[in-house]
Amino acid sequence: METKVLKPTRENILYCAELLKNGDIVGMPTETVYGLAANAFDEEAVKKIFEAKKRPADNPLIVHIADLDMIKELAVNIPDTAIAVCEKFWPGPITIVLPKSDKIPSITSGGMNTVGIRFPLNKVARELIKSCGLPLAAPSANLSGSPSPTTAEHVFDDLNGSIPAILDDGNCTVGVESTVISFEDDIIRLLRPGKISVEDLKTVAPKVVIDKGVLEIISNDTKVSSPGMKYKHYSPKADVTLVSGSIEFFERYVSSRNSDDTYALIFDSDNISDNIKSIKYGDSGLQQAERIFAILRDVDKIGARNVYARCPSKDGVGLAVYNRMLRAAGFKVVKEGD
Ligand code: TXA
Ligand code: MG
Repeated sequence: METKVLKPTRENILYCAELLKNGDIVGMPTETVYGLAANAFDEEAVKKIFEAKKRPADNPLIVHIADLDMIKELAVNIPDTAIAVCEKFWPGPITIVLPKSDKIPSITSGGMNTVGIRFPLNKVARELIKSCGLPLAAPSANLSGSPSPTTAEHVFDDLNGSIPAILDDGNCTVGVESTVISFEDDIIRLLRPGKISVEDLKTVAPKVVIDKGVLEIISNDTKVSSPGMKYKHYSPKADVTLVSGSIEFFERYVSSRNSDDTYALIFDSDNISDNIKSIKYGDSGLQQAERIFAILRDVDKIGARNVYARCPSKDGVGLAVYNRMLRAAGFKVVKEGD
């Protein structure tokens, strides 16, 4: 199959909407990362997503909507806190997990009785959803396990030949996937950190609990709140280690392990010896979020074998960057003073 990369003109959006209505799958831009979209109600179409991505069947998909009314078809028993979150942060990079309606097939929800719903901010995504008039199930449009795609080229690299079309809307502005939350009475449980931070969520709920799976390794036999937590993620072929502590410690640590195929991932304001090859990945959490997935793909292209990364801050959006880097590093963290 030929994979067309299409500019997001009205004509091309309508063409992709037709593909979706006919049970096909399409690469769709969003403000977070590119998604691989299908009609959320069509079991055969959703099956194509799992096949193209080689995704485990028990990992549920997020369903994307383009107006608030669509939620009524998808979820039941919506708590007040969820409504407050939608009013404050939608359209935007946050997914809410709610009890699912009978209209959502089990394949879409990975066999769970809940569904993750998101109203994206990206205009092309919204036009596409509106043009086909369907809620779109869409996981990140990468091969399962590899870094999420933040350009149409990343999607093409992973899925060329297995999907008919990708709408190319340039670079994703947020760069890490949406915040995922669930609700327990008026408490919010954070299942995956994103641009909408814990601090942001505290403005609408009295308590925000960070699920254990956000920062800790989950063993295979543990029951998880969100199946995505237990899978290997965002992994370049290179071996990644997170190094926590001062820049002096970082430089000493990397120098003693330096070789031709060693790279350091450092902050923009860091200065280290020219003997160490380095890639800058931003100073603020926002900058790091925007660049991190492209960099994790680039390190393989340039032949890096060992990557040592400065540890991002755990505040605000930093927590999302830290969560993705922890997984890219297979939870290998070296701490100054250990
Ligand atoms: O920003 C995003 O969320 C992107 C764009 C395309 O919208 N999508 C995305 O989807 O990142 P995906 O499938 O790559 O990640 C969805 C995560 C997975 O870790 C999954 O386990 C979790 O959300 N999830 C989805 N539905 C869930 C549910 N009902 N309960 C718990 N976790 C859920
Ligand atoms: Mg994903």
